[in-house]
Amino acid sequence: MHSPRGSFTSRFGATVAVGGSVVGLGNIWRFPYIAGENGGAAFIVVYILMSLMIAVPIMLSELSIGRQARRNLHGAMERLAPGRFWRFTGTMGIVTALVIVSFYCVVAGWALGFLGRSVANGFAGQTPAEIAGGLKLFIDSGWRPVMWMSVFLLLTSGIVWFGVEKGIERFNKILMPLLVLMLVALGVNSLFLEGFREGMTFVLKPDLSKIDGGVVFQALGQAFFSLSIGMGAMTVYGSYVKEGESLPRIAATVAVFDVCIAVLSGMAIFPAVFTFGIDPTSGPELVFMTLPNIFRQMPGGYWISIAFFAILFMAAITSSVSLVEAIVVWLKEEFRMTRRRALAMTTGTVFLLGSLCALSQVDGSRLIVGGMNIFDLFDKTSSSVLMPLGALLIVLFAGWVMDKAMLRTQLTSGESYARRLFGPLRLMIKWVCPVVIALLFLNQIGLI
Ligand code: PHE
Repeated sequence: MHSPRGSFTSRFGATVAVGGSVVGLGNIWRFPYIAGENGGAAFIVVYILMSLMIAVPIMLSELSIGRQARRNLHGAMERLAPGRFWRFTGTMGIVTALVIVSFYCVVAGWALGFLGRSVANGFAGQTPAEIAGGLKLFIDSGWRPVMWMSVFLLLTSGIVWFGVEKGIERFNKILMPLLVLMLVALGVNSLFLEGFREGMTFVLKPDLSKIDGGVVFQALGQAFFSLSIGMGAMTVYGSYVKEGESLPRIAATVAVFDVCIAVLSGMAIFPAVFTFGIDPTSGPELVFMTLPNIFRQMPGGYWISIAFFAILFMAAITSSVSLVEAIVVWLKEEFRMTRRRALAMTTGTVFLLGSLCALSQVDGSRLIVGGMNIFDLFDKTSSSVLMPLGALLIVLFAGWVMDKAMLRTQLTSGESYARRLFGPLRLMIKWVCPVVIALLFLNQIGLI
């Protein structure tokens, strides 16, 4: 017997829960570092286009599949197209979710570690260079990142244990506005930084000649990561959305919000990057090298830094919860496990993989695969192989395999004008998204 599935209480509740999954470290940690590595504004333009044009139809496909079948991605595909190979998309999605949540918990652990350091006023009296090197020292200790990652993982599992629909919804309603407020405060502060002009030019003035296949592909991967698509997390959340709520409205709201938060975060970070002489291509450490420098010179910086890392941690946990939930629901529905057992297995596996990620970053570590440490390997392969592939299979499924009438019901319910949207949306799902992803893939492996 399946236990009755939960559901979000209202459209607002559903939007806020989906928003919680979507907004997280992807916006505040990953977006600036990827934008920094890919030349700034030109990348950001492509990223916005990719989020709104390509990622939104994919998110809608995932939500529709989930709400139609009321199952995890694997089970949903099986239910909607019995006996075919499609369900392996769901299995691949679980691998993707595991890979992501493993390095995600490590970065969230950094945020927790920095929260601790902020409380202890540990950044006071340091030079910008010392602050910029702080994360490296933290990482090289080995035990610190593993410990904080574990704390974060346990908290995530705790929330999943109590049930996503109840806890998360309420939590997010308070959290999201706080996060925006915080970023706006940092943005205003950056007006007064020496590097303001340079930073803003970097974020807002695109040099279109910098756009090539690689930049577009990075933008695509970042859009997928940031919108939590391509691995079935959105399918599970879709399965909790009530009949009659408008999925396009939820997806559009969340996507616009997500893009705004990412760009805001860029505007808060880059002026400081240039002010404190930090290299914008510093990689995953960029934001953590920059932020404490900002707080140090800000009036009230002590409190602001505590608040910021606390909010960052909370934004991260509402995302990691959706990843762990996707894995747990899969184990529960496909292997008939109890929720408790599924959660214990997931937490154990993530602990092992997450520790490997954290330890692989320690200076001199031998956890190197193909010239990359495991952390980078997981980060890079998820956004440049696993998510695009998952997303491709998902839109192909929604556009070509899933019953058209079902897709129409899912996409048009709850909104009268949505009927007119169905034609163009289906065109995107059936043709435009798959062709764009496939072309970018072929370009990346050098075939075109
Ligand atoms: N979208 C989340 C973020 O931006 C990360 C995430 C990816 C969550 C995939 C769920 C699934 O932080």
